[in-house]
Amino acid sequence: MDLNGTAAIVSGAASGLGEATARVLAAAGATVVVADLNEEGGKRVADEIGGQFIVTDVTSEESVQAAVDAAAAARPLRVAVSCAGIGWAERTVNREGSPHSLASYTRVISVNLIGTFNLMRIAAAAMQKTGPADADGQRGVIVNTSSVAGIEGQTGQLAYSASKGGIIGMTVPAARDLSAVGVRVLTICPGIIDTPIYGFNENAEEFKAKLTAPVVFPKRMGTAAEFGHLVRSLVENDYMNAEVIRFDGGIRFQPK
Ligand SMILES: NC(=O)c1ccc[n+]([C@@H]2O[C@H](COP(=O)([O-])OP(=O)(O)OC[C@H]3O[C@@H](n4cnc5c(N)ncnc54)[C@H](O)[C@@H]3O)[C@@H](O)[C@H]2O)c1
Repeated sequence: MDLNGTAAIVSGAASGLGEATARVLAAAGATVVVADLNEEGGKRVADEIGGQFIVTDVTSEESVQAAVDAAAAARPLRVAVSCAGIGWAERTVNREGSPHSLASYTRVISVNLIGTFNLMRIAAAAMQKTGPADADGQRGVIVNTSSVAGIEGQTGQLAYSASKGGIIGMTVPAARDLSAVGVRVLTICPGIIDTPIYGFNENAEEFKAKLTAPVVFPKRMGTAAEFGHLVRSLVENDYMNAEVIRFDGGIRFQPK
């Protein structure tokens, strides 16, 4: 897919992986809608890349519809990337013997899994309305962000792992459904990537160092720019479809 002269929408683009993705897609010639709850960060990113910020809650039908409508208004919508997400650490039964909160579980599933589905379905419907972009009849590409936690699970992060596993589970059925529309679907599973999701206090640095220990090579956190580069590669490579791609420096999460 040639990005020049196209429209793209990136959820979670006010920060971290989504921000880096929005920058890469804009540099490749796409006009990007920055869809995020965070107005300050979203406006900053949109201004810097010549895109448009639309305040968006990925859990809301109306909100995502409005953001997709804005993206599809001027140019054909060819790319939708879901990076909006929240982390959550809570055990099934905690050390005091209390069960995991159902409200927090529901919230994490709602933002990470349902929010991803919400953007995918609405963006695909908009892509269907465009003309084919090439001789294959391709109309668009959807890239979702899961996590290595969605493949192998992460200790103490049951709700998060479940939400990310759900995104992996949607990949093949969505790609098959959307083949009729000429839309490819891909899922990236990042390992440990340096973004604001880990916070900025001194504990955050300690936490990040601990997380990075099992990385195989290169022995460091990944960067958001490397994630953006992967998204662009997947979008531009027309034969990539229905695949779940680890992006993790070879890390395998340990039980403790
Ligand atoms: N950083 C990592 O190591 C890592 C690893 C694996 C997976 N991921 C996943 O990558 C995605 C991006 O993470 P990040 O590290 O860039 O985090 P981040 O916190 O820097 O960015 C997430 C963005 O999502 C937005 N957001 C949250 N809830 C939203 C909602 N309901 N509607 C719209 N926007 C919302 C936030 O405002 C924020 O701008 C997340 O889904 C995360 O789970 C990150």
